[in-house]
Amino acid sequence: MKKYIVFLGFLIINFSCNNDRNMISESEIDKKVDKLIQSMTLDEKVGQMTQIDQRFLDTITDLSTYSIGSLLSGGGSHPKVNEPQAWLDMYNGYQSETLKSRLQIPLIYGIDAVHGHNNVYGATIFPQNIGLGATNNPELIFKISEATSIEVAATGIDWTFSPCLSSPEDYRWGRTYEGFSSDPSLVEILGEASVKGYQSAQTNSGKKVVACAKHFIGDGNTEFGTGMNGLVDRGNTILNVDELKEKLLPKYQAAIDADVQTIMASYNSWNGVKCHGSKELLTDILKIEMGFDGFVISDWQGIDEIPGDYKSDIITSINAGIDMVMVSGQGQPYKKFMRLLKESVEEGSIPLARIDDAVKRILKVKIRNGLFDNPLVENDALKVIGSDTHRDIARQAVRESVVVLKNDDIIPISKDSKSIVVAGRGADNLGMQCGGWTINWQGGQGDITIGTTILDGIKKSVSAETNVIYSEDGQDLNDVDGELAVVVIGEDPYTEFFGDKDNLDLLNDDINTINNLKNKGYKVMVLLISGRPMNIAEHIDDWDGFAAIWLPGSEGDGVSDILFGDFQSTGKLSYPWPIKAEHGANADDKDLLFNFGYGL
Ligand code: BGC
Ligand code: BGC
Repeated sequence: MKKYIVFLGFLIINFSCNNDRNMISESEIDKKVDKLIQSMTLDEKVGQMTQIDQRFLDTITDLSTYSIGSLLSGGGSHPKVNEPQAWLDMYNGYQSETLKSRLQIPLIYGIDAVHGHNNVYGATIFPQNIGLGATNNPELIFKISEATSIEVAATGIDWTFSPCLSSPEDYRWGRTYEGFSSDPSLVEILGEASVKGYQSAQTNSGKKVVACAKHFIGDGNTEFGTGMNGLVDRGNTILNVDELKEKLLPKYQAAIDADVQTIMASYNSWNGVKCHGSKELLTDILKIEMGFDGFVISDWQGIDEIPGDYKSDIITSINAGIDMVMVSGQGQPYKKFMRLLKESVEEGSIPLARIDDAVKRILKVKIRNGLFDNPLVENDALKVIGSDTHRDIARQAVRESVVVLKNDDIIPISKDSKSIVVAGRGADNLGMQCGGWTINWQGGQGDITIGTTILDGIKKSVSAETNVIYSEDGQDLNDVDGELAVVVIGEDPYTEFFGDKDNLDLLNDDINTINNLKNKGYKVMVLLISGRPMNIAEHIDDWDGFAAIWLPGSEGDGVSDILFGDFQSTGKLSYPWPIKAEHGANADDKDLLFNFGYGL
């Protein structure tokens, strides 16, 4: 770090070389921030409040010209070559350019590291949150977040847009899997562990990561039919203020008490008002009543959805309490955003005091995270990305997330079986087992990164004499090939509104695969890869065993740990499983196939 001291030496304020978020006192931070604010022009303040996806930068020198506060990599926003060293080089390149600005305020770089450092090829991919909810293990979630932060920090990145604190109720929502549980009180416990894990991790050179609790608020509670395309995502959540406070705020209060430094506003509306434009939510409740002193980031083009033209969106959202805007640059050009924000202040539509408050919050987070001391990152930690230690944690998470829902004496499978058939679209498909938010925004199929498929895991587990026969759909098999089949079925990857569906039936192809095997006399152990409970009630009687494995990520051998009895299954449903999955978490008890907390 020392070698960058020159870079910062001239800084108006003499920041101490202290890496620890808590070792520099809050009053010292306040003094430093106040001095800095006094020396800033309105343009520089506006720059700090602007976040751009690096893909949409017109030219890299805009970072220094406008003193840009933040960059992000949205889903799939990679450096030219997607490998750890290139990420680090990209980060240092942007940061060095930013440090050429007059006041040399470092960038804070954000990314969706929501189940591991999931945009980076070769990173450890942990189970999606729905699976982590089934582990019901806060210590494990702490360890996962810590490992994720270490991988993120190794590439220089400062900030993860995680954890998602939604408590999804309608399983037709394409983001159900991003929530740990439909029960807010479980989300509260696991979310707190996650925030602590993310923010306590530190690389050897002192690099740390800021967490972001999202999406504030009611993202998982919208009414069916009010969202995009007449479905769920970005819809309207109807709750009176007391219900909102009682039901949805405690999980955020726990995150704030755990020192979460940023909170993301949600795309949805609350009682017909977009959260991004609600002063009641973002200022009165979140900042004043709940005492949140970090900064509020808007979601991707989120302010654009407030009714009215773009300038009025800016005025409404900043006055409501948004501190930094994820302009992204994909829709509205960021220079237009900066021009309109400045204009709104100059003409008095946004008070300067509001701008100063937003910038103070942003600078404080940067100082607390050691960014002024350590803006550039050395290549001393890249080997942690996808390390065996992290993959072991992920494998533990996978086996603890498997929820066995039916077992007619089919598992544990003997490792000495003469032969085992492994079938289904999901059996040898890393992309499918990782789901959305993996390498690309929408995820992908097949070998999208480094990892172990479920088939690979099974092959590694059995004895040398066992014949593992792979068949995608079971058609090519003879009935003499064995007596037991593991069939891996499920959903193709999706993210956000792409995963909104009004019908949660299994695919016909999957049913056909299972039937092909049953008709040939096999006993079937069905494994479902999915981001939510699905419609299995009509089929499960035909199956000998069934387990929900959610979206397990890169370590498929965690599944075989359970199949072959190396570990006892402990996973429990963190979402109730209705007979008709479309009825979601609010289905009546009599309409449930399996209760919340069930698991064999
Ligand atoms: C999502 C957020 C995400 C952001 C940046 C948005 O579309 O709603 O969860 O953090 O994009 O990728
Ligand atoms: C980005 C995502 C973002 C989404 C929002 C995509 O282009 O890559 O990160 O969440 O847009 O719609």
